[in-house]
Amino acid sequence: MNAAPAGDTERQDAALLALLRVLAERGYGFVTPTPLTHARVLARVERQQARSVRDVLGWSLPFRRGEIDAEIEALLDRAEMLHADGAMLRSRVRVSSLHDRLFLHSAYPTDDTDSVFFGPDSYRFADLIRSELTSLSGRGPLRTLDIGTGSGVGAIVAASARPDALVCATDINARALRFARINAAAASVAIDAHHAPTLDTLDGVFDVITANPPYIIDAESRLYRHGGGMHGAQLSLDMTRMALDRLAPGGRAILYTGSAIVDGGDALESALADEASARGFTLRYRELDPDVFGEELDQPGYADVERIALVATVITRPT
Ligand SMILES: C[S@@+](CC[C@H](N)C(=O)[O-])C[C@H]1O[C@@H](n2cnc3c(N)ncnc32)[C@H](O)[C@@H]1O
Repeated sequence: MNAAPAGDTERQDAALLALLRVLAERGYGFVTPTPLTHARVLARVERQQARSVRDVLGWSLPFRRGEIDAEIEALLDRAEMLHADGAMLRSRVRVSSLHDRLFLHSAYPTDDTDSVFFGPDSYRFADLIRSELTSLSGRGPLRTLDIGTGSGVGAIVAASARPDALVCATDINARALRFARINAAAASVAIDAHHAPTLDTLDGVFDVITANPPYIIDAESRLYRHGGGMHGAQLSLDMTRMALDRLAPGGRAILYTGSAIVDGGDALESALADEASARGFTLRYRELDPDVFGEELDQPGYADVERIALVATVITRPT
């Protein structure tokens, strides 16, 4: 997709916001599965052409012009989010539901390096944030930050759980920030979104900092997926360090990520424990799922890895 002139972008964004509102009115829902499950479902012979809006915006199936809901098709046209696929059209965006909200993100397959992420991890991340914010119920108005916000899930869940919160978000993907702003507007929440790889351009400290960083060794280095060294955990450690530098007294850093387990050891857990103890902060670390993305273990970077665990980390700064 080429960058559109500013006026065009405004018109397209307004069409995307209208699309989310129309879908909400019509009770649209779609839960995004893993890419492997998505591929398996699409491999079925009867799943080659869309029969519904859900097929177009959830399963990313092609459709013939005029064969889906006319208002939805017109909004996708106005947003310039349709492209030709032979005699049919495909949407460039997907829409998924989470906690009664709708989230715009990139269509399947997410091959572009700046694809906007949303997946099963987003659901688990959202639930973790919600439970951690509920147990912070005694505190006054919160200042929250979601690092690597993608489609805005962490920021929007925080804003929904704590309507008094001042919510900031960062990402290095301009398209992700664009979708996050539209998703926030559709959820009627205000977020202050920044295009930044670090927190250097943001002022002050935060009561809650959330992150669901990339944690896979991605051969194509896609922004939403590539976690760097330490078998993909380096970016999780870097984001946690940035977060701890900006935590207000009594504040919580909530990290949802994956960690590669080598010979029974978890290098991320050890590194995070060292970071927390060096600052006098407390750490809670637990595995949410012992084994995800098992197919990645066939890749050369994982030759010594026995499993990838999903982990939840909560680091609290004393008051
Ligand atoms: C796995 S996705 C998660 C997106 C979203 N938080 C969610 O849970 O659906 C990771 C996100 O981190 C972003 N990212 C990667 N490196 C970053 C950095 N240094 N600073 C901010 N965001 C970054 C990516 O662009 C991507 O949107």
